[in-house]
Amino acid sequence: MDSLIIRGGKKLSGELKVSASKNACLPILFGTLLSEDKVELISLPSLRDINTSVKLLREMGAVVSGELSALKIDCKNINKTEAPYDLVKTMRASILVLGPLLARFGKAKVSLPGGCAIGGRPVDIHLSNFEKMGASIKLENGYINAKAKKLVGAHLDLSFPSVGATENLMMAAVLAEGETIINNAAKEPEIEDLADFLNSMGANISGQGTSTIKIAGIEKLGSCTHKPIGDRIEAATFVLTGLLTNSSLKVSNFKTKHLSSLFSILKEMGAKMQIEENEVTVFPSELKGVEATTMPYPGFPTDIQAQLMTLMCRANGVSVITEKIFENRFMHVPELIRMGANIKLEGKSAIISGGDEFVSAPVMCTDLRASAALVMAALVAKGESTISRIYHLDRGYENIEIKLGEVGADIKRV
Ligand code: UD1
Repeated sequence: MDSLIIRGGKKLSGELKVSASKNACLPILFGTLLSEDKVELISLPSLRDINTSVKLLREMGAVVSGELSALKIDCKNINKTEAPYDLVKTMRASILVLGPLLARFGKAKVSLPGGCAIGGRPVDIHLSNFEKMGASIKLENGYINAKAKKLVGAHLDLSFPSVGATENLMMAAVLAEGETIINNAAKEPEIEDLADFLNSMGANISGQGTSTIKIAGIEKLGSCTHKPIGDRIEAATFVLTGLLTNSSLKVSNFKTKHLSSLFSILKEMGAKMQIEENEVTVFPSELKGVEATTMPYPGFPTDIQAQLMTLMCRANGVSVITEKIFENRFMHVPELIRMGANIKLEGKSAIISGGDEFVSAPVMCTDLRASAALVMAALVAKGESTISRIYHLDRGYENIEIKLGEVGADIKRV
């Protein structure tokens, strides 16, 4: 099992280019199931979750060829409409095959994702709304068994703006009969990107990026070439790393408007930044503690909570982070404490007393974004830290040791 060895204390300099967004690429990959024509995806990142998705598509009969720089996917001859447990358990996003399969083939069998490290994560919003579109859903032996002669458009009111449910229902509605309206839809940029991708295959979706999405169902989708958006979460991780290491660092290749909530928190902390349309440069800054709460987009993203907490450990004064999206997303806290942080947990909030230096330690990754927080802490800790179980990190950060090494970090994979 791979680990990272990091010797902390190096200043970073130069430019970090972020890869394409994992959370945009996964639904887009599963969205290819909706079309009988060949689709080409440009500049996909080399990540474990992307490999898992391609494996799943291939298992169902898709022909996938070319490199990640220009991947061609042909879902004409899908011969299996099942996502097995061994793949779903490694990647919850596999649930996103449900909408496309149900819409195009009238049936889908997907292993129930179950819990994961950051909480229970049910899929009730997906399932109850598929039922409103005419599907019959049975839970049998750990599997979701969904069937529908023909999905019909419906008015759907989501009880929470779930990202995955919005994507799954939007994909299903593309080939449903009549119009679907999704109220209280998630507004994340990755949903806009998915809608843009589906529209370029011929779908008729409007309102993406707002809380009301309208989809006029059509008979058939065609082909397209699509380049997914840059990864705002990877970008945020690098921005926070630049500030943590007191470096002058440019982070490019993403839309800075997708990180407005983070930038307002950082401005309040006193961060010096130059923000352009597609890149941001951070400069050495004296930082002070602030309060932040995770919220659905355009609020502050839960996927950046752990990394912001690491930065708060080095800011002057007290900071508070409240986690409102997931029930158990503070697993990085005990590991950060082992590295010298002063953090107390009170219910949904973490109270961070800043100003202490991180010290090196052997630490263990528990989930994807928690891993990034530990890498950040190790980059400023005195001495050598070993970070184990980095398969979590490899799910969502492309070549992280190479990218950070190129801007001056002392980091190696063993
Ligand atoms: C997506 C992202 C993930 C991010 C999350 C929140 C992908 C592949 N993953 O996950 O990185 O952290 O959005 O921004 O894009 N919920 C229910 N019932 C449901 C669905 C969700 O109760 O049917 C709850 C979840 O348990 C959770 C909250 O809603 O507490 C948010 O989940 P959701 O927005 O669905 O996140 P994901 O799509 O799983």
